[in-house]
Amino acid sequence: MAHIMGFGGYAPERIVTNDEWAQRVDTSDEWITQRTGIKRRRFAADDESTLTLAAAAARGAIGDAGLTPADIDEIVIATDTPEVRTPDTAALLQHELGCRNVPTYDLGGSGCAGFIQAMDVANSRIAVQPKNILVIGVEVITRMISLTDRATAVLFGDAAGAVIMGSQPSKAEVLGIVSGTDGSHAEILTLTAGGTRRPFNASSLASGDHNRLVMDGKKVFTEAVRRMSEASAEVLRRVGRTVGEVSLVIPHQANLRIIEAVRKKMGLESGRVFVNVHEYGNTGSATVPFAMWQAVLTNRIEKGDLVVLTAFGAGFHWAAAALQF
Ligand SMILES: CC(C)(COP(=O)(O)OP(=O)(O)OC[C@H]1O[C@@H](n2cnc3c(N)ncnc32)[C@H](O)[C@@H]1OP(=O)(O)O)[C@@H](O)C(=O)NCCC(=O)NCCS
Repeated sequence: MAHIMGFGGYAPERIVTNDEWAQRVDTSDEWITQRTGIKRRRFAADDESTLTLAAAAARGAIGDAGLTPADIDEIVIATDTPEVRTPDTAALLQHELGCRNVPTYDLGGSGCAGFIQAMDVANSRIAVQPKNILVIGVEVITRMISLTDRATAVLFGDAAGAVIMGSQPSKAEVLGIVSGTDGSHAEILTLTAGGTRRPFNASSLASGDHNRLVMDGKKVFTEAVRRMSEASAEVLRRVGRTVGEVSLVIPHQANLRIIEAVRKKMGLESGRVFVNVHEYGNTGSATVPFAMWQAVLTNRIEKGDLVVLTAFGAGFHWAAAALQF
């Protein structure tokens, strides 16, 4: 199994509070806090983009691993908010970081589960051939969805998280990863305009569909709780460990109520679940690597800890990973 050699993360400086949102759309700090636990989130500055966020997190992870860009053998980026339509953000990042002409690719459209899915891909690539893979989750969601639709806009923020995965024993061993998909729920969380079914044109622009994130919040909520708790139990079963041995669960940060429901279903005390959704909101595929970077940085994770990552997103996709620090 692969090992994690370094961690990195980045969030833009600009903080947008619930009160600021209440001045933009018909909402309130009370509504957002009660329903989601979110108090603030970060917005990318005008001179920032998916590439700059990814590069900042990547440089942190490469440095933390004691490597240089020349040591990176492959790059995979999970994002639903790419720098440009074509080519992928990973190609742009290869050049930006000054890496060798190594293979790079994006895992696009897998929503908030993308980072753990990307770890799953990297894990199997390393099993075939030992190499150092830069794995990133990054989103600049605030630039891709409607900022006038209160039902979705207040939930999201921008951030990036990165790890370096390799074959040599290092900071954390990947014990196992499980992931799954149920495409029958694709219409419950989707942004349809801009694809071949409904290309960008004057009509999608006029109707506002070009950036309308369609979301059935209650169904997403129910599925998220079920899939993240089941995936966590499944990955522990596969690696022969129990919930009682878990030091910390780092779940996708979409909503405090979802996190709490997953925690209760798993039978964990609150101190064993990492939460930063109140500070950053839902940063899509970045939530898990960004939270893991923070957990390592603040010594919430120590040597010997068994850590479970779990995420859920559009698709629906879900995934969980068990890591031995
Ligand atoms: C979105 C979510 C917070 C809504 O919470 P909820 O408890 O389902 O919402 P409720 O049913 O209590 O409230 C819905 C009402 O609030 C209104 N509302 C929606 N957004 C609002 C906002 N920002 N401010 C104030 N009111 C809002 C709706 O218009 C609706 O009004 P109505 O009852 O008059 O039609 C919740 O369903 C959720 O978090 N779902 C998961 C979403 C998610 O995680 N998506 C990303 C997945 S990776």
